[in-house]
Amino acid sequence: MATFKISVINGDGIGPEVVAEGRKALVAIGERCGHSFSFAEYLAGGCAIDATGVPLPDATIKGVKDSHALLFGAIGGPKWENVAHHLKPEAGLLKLRKELDAWANLRPAVVYDELCDASTIKPEVLKGTDIMVLRELTGGIYFGQPRGIEGSGPTRKGFNTEVYSEFEVERIVKMAFEIARGRRKKVCSVDKANVLESSQLWREVAIRIGKQFPDVALSHMYVDNAAMQLIRDPKQFDVIVTGNIFGDILSDEASQLTGSIGMLASASVGGPVGFFEPIHGSAPDIAGQKKANPLATIGTVALLLRYGLKLEAEAALVERAIKAVLKSGLRTGDIKQPGTTIVDTVAMGEAVAKQIRTIA
Ligand code: IPM
Ligand code: MG
Repeated sequence: MATFKISVINGDGIGPEVVAEGRKALVAIGERCGHSFSFAEYLAGGCAIDATGVPLPDATIKGVKDSHALLFGAIGGPKWENVAHHLKPEAGLLKLRKELDAWANLRPAVVYDELCDASTIKPEVLKGTDIMVLRELTGGIYFGQPRGIEGSGPTRKGFNTEVYSEFEVERIVKMAFEIARGRRKKVCSVDKANVLESSQLWREVAIRIGKQFPDVALSHMYVDNAAMQLIRDPKQFDVIVTGNIFGDILSDEASQLTGSIGMLASASVGGPVGFFEPIHGSAPDIAGQKKANPLATIGTVALLLRYGLKLEAEAALVERAIKAVLKSGLRTGDIKQPGTTIVDTVAMGEAVAKQIRTIA
């Protein structure tokens, strides 16, 4: 029996609630498929600040690096909004991405037929949408130097640097083409090459790499147009590849196609240990009330199995179980539709775990 060491960061707000349901899905997979998972919990985010004074303690980095994959909930909240910038929960998250060299962030936006009516967008526009947003995660303006706030008075300024090196673009674009080969063979590279030099370089590299993948169609879009096209006709997209900040924004937008940000999973890979988190935040307004949708985290568990542990059949089983539960009419509040049954976080998680154990 294979044993996998899973490091777990619950984080803040709804993090612990949704991670608990994600773990149930893993345990169910273990029982059904003959794997064993051991879980080790580590602190990060606001709870780490409270306990240790920093958002990412060294023990967390060490523990996570010593695991096969990291399951992460969500971090942050109003309580820590006023701590120094470099000590904010978000700074801990960014440091962890860097520490794990998790340069590729996969954010699939799949519209389930059952949720076509849950979005604010017309069902006929959405039906069949299946996009893989591939976001560069350890470069760009999030990490570029120089950065800071300097001076005083009216000329006091805040500044950041959008910067990409050839190798950073090359590896993410290559991954986009490889992923597209297993899908509908279309890559749309999103940039702002009409204004930014960093984007001009991005586009040049994308075109160069594209020549190695003649079987995949490459298109380019400026980010403003891409934001519009995502809403106008999301089905035109297969794989979208883009830089850190554009990917941050477009993936939140894509989440709304699926009905709720509570549905979107993500995988951050590239380094030795993959980092798996739902794309939603810590939602402090609903924390502790069992209202959170755990499906993003359970979907994240599917990605952990697929990309972190290379267990494709197990990943597909989790996804089938999610679909079956939606088909049975269970919904959390964020995806409620007429004629469905509203359940809490735990009931939703347990319904999926049960499907994992029993579904054909
Ligand atoms: C995300 C989040 C983070 C980001 C924040 C919390 C730092 O919005 O994962 O999309 O901007 O990357
Ligand atoms: Mg974001």
